[in-house]
Amino acid sequence: MIDRPLPLPCGITLANRLCKSAMTEGLATPAGRATPEHQRLYAAWAAGGAALLVTGNLMIDGRYLERAGNVVVEDDAGLAQLRAWAATVHAHGSVLWGQVSHPGRQCPRLVNLHPLAPSPVQLELVGNFGRPRAMTEEQIRDVVARFGRTAGVLKTAGFDGVQVHAAHGYLLSQFLSPRTNQRADAWGGSLENRARLLLESVRAVRAAVGPEFPVSVKLNSSDFVKGGFGPEECLQVVRWLSDAGIDLLEVSGGTYEQIEFFKSHAEDEIRDSTRHREAMFLKYADAIKAVATMPVMVTGGFRTRAGMDDALDKGATDMIGLARPFCVDPGFPLRMLAGELPALPVPEDRLVLGRGFWGPNSPSRHMQGLNNQCQAGWYYAQIERLGAGLEPRPALSPWAALLGHLSKDFGRSMARKFA
Ligand SMILES: Cc1cc2nc3c(=O)[nH]c(=O)nc-3n(C[C@H](O)[C@H](O)[C@H](O)COP(=O)(O)O)c2cc1C
Repeated sequence: MIDRPLPLPCGITLANRLCKSAMTEGLATPAGRATPEHQRLYAAWAAGGAALLVTGNLMIDGRYLERAGNVVVEDDAGLAQLRAWAATVHAHGSVLWGQVSHPGRQCPRLVNLHPLAPSPVQLELVGNFGRPRAMTEEQIRDVVARFGRTAGVLKTAGFDGVQVHAAHGYLLSQFLSPRTNQRADAWGGSLENRARLLLESVRAVRAAVGPEFPVSVKLNSSDFVKGGFGPEECLQVVRWLSDAGIDLLEVSGGTYEQIEFFKSHAEDEIRDSTRHREAMFLKYADAIKAVATMPVMVTGGFRTRAGMDDALDKGATDMIGLARPFCVDPGFPLRMLAGELPALPVPEDRLVLGRGFWGPNSPSRHMQGLNNQCQAGWYYAQIERLGAGLEPRPALSPWAALLGHLSKDFGRSMARKFA
C-alpha cells in the first residue's frame, strides 16, 4: 500500500511510498544558481504529500550541462540558494534529495561544442550534439572527485540525500554501455571495468556524506538500443551496488537515442498502450529485486492507485517513482493517499505534433526527435508555470509547447554564454 512508511538502510524512514522523480527544471540563473522559482515549484510539490522529492539534474561540472538552466553545484558558491531551496521543502513537510549528474556526450552544442565521453562515439541525433572527446584518466578522476564534492555541498546545504544519475544515457550510463564505451583501459572492456566509474563515484559520494545520509542510484534496466547496456548486465551492477551500500535503487530505462518513457503510440494504439502502461519497467523488477539488498523504486508509467498498490503488494517495487503527473497535478499524492483519487491524468497521449510523417513514429528521425522535444517542452512549460506561482495549463497545445521550448532554450543558452 502506498501509505506505508519505508525504512532505508541508512536509518532514515520515508513517510510513504510516493516519490517525485527527477525532472530537470531549467530554472537556474545563467551562472547555474537556484532561484526563487525553484522554491515556489518545490513548495507546491512538497505540500502535495509525496514522502520524497528528487531534484532534476544538478550538474557536477558547469562546463558540461544537460541543458542551459541547470543548477550547477561545484563548490560553496551557490550555498545560500541551495539552503533556501531545501528549507522550503522542509517547511512544507517533505524531503529533498539532489540528483547529481554529468551529461557526457548528451550535452547540447549550444552549451559545449566538445563534450566529454568514454569514447568519441557521437549521438545519432541530428544536429544538436557535438562529437565527444574521449576522456583522459585525469578527466575521469576529476569526475569521481566532483561527484563526491557536489554531494558534500548538498549535505552542507541541508539536502536530505543524494541520487547519482547513472541512467538515461548520461555519462555514467555511457561508461556502462559497450556501445558508447569502447575503451581498452581499466575503464572499458569488461563489465567490471565499465562499471568502475559508477562504483568509484558512489564510493566518493558515500565518503563525502557518511553512512547515515541516504545515497541513491538511478540505473537503467536496459538501454533499449542494440549493443547497449542490457538487463543481464544490469543485474550484475545491482549486485555490486548492493555491496557498495546504497539506500535506494531507482530503476528506469532508455537513452536520448531511445527515450523509452516518451514513446508515443499511434492514436489507434492508445487504448492498448494505456492498458499496458503501468508495466513499463516493471517486467525487469522481479529479477532486480531478487539480487538487490537495498530498497528498489521503479519509475515510469505508474498512473493508477490500484497499479501502484499491486506492484508494492507483489513485492515488485518498494517505492513508486512518478514524474509527469506532478507537472499537471502537483497536489495529487495527498488525495491519492486518502483514497480519493484512483487515477492520474495521462496528457502525454495527445502530446504529438501530428500523425503519420508528422507523428512520433515518423520514418524521419528529425520528426521523431521533434515529437520528443514537443513532449519535453510541454512538461517544461508546466514546470515553469508552477515555478512562477501559476496553475498548470493542461490545454497548452503541443506546437506552442515545442516552439516555446526551442526559443527559450536558445535564449537561456545565449544568456549563459554571455553572462
Ligand atoms: C520534463 C521531464 C524532465 C525530466 N528530467 C529528468 C532528470 O533531470 N533526471 C532524471 O533522472 N530523469 C528525468 N526525467 C525522467 C523522469 O524522472 C522519469 O524517469 C520519467 O518521466 C518516467 O516517469 P513518469 O512516467 O512517471 O513520467 C524527466 C522527465 C520529464 C518528463
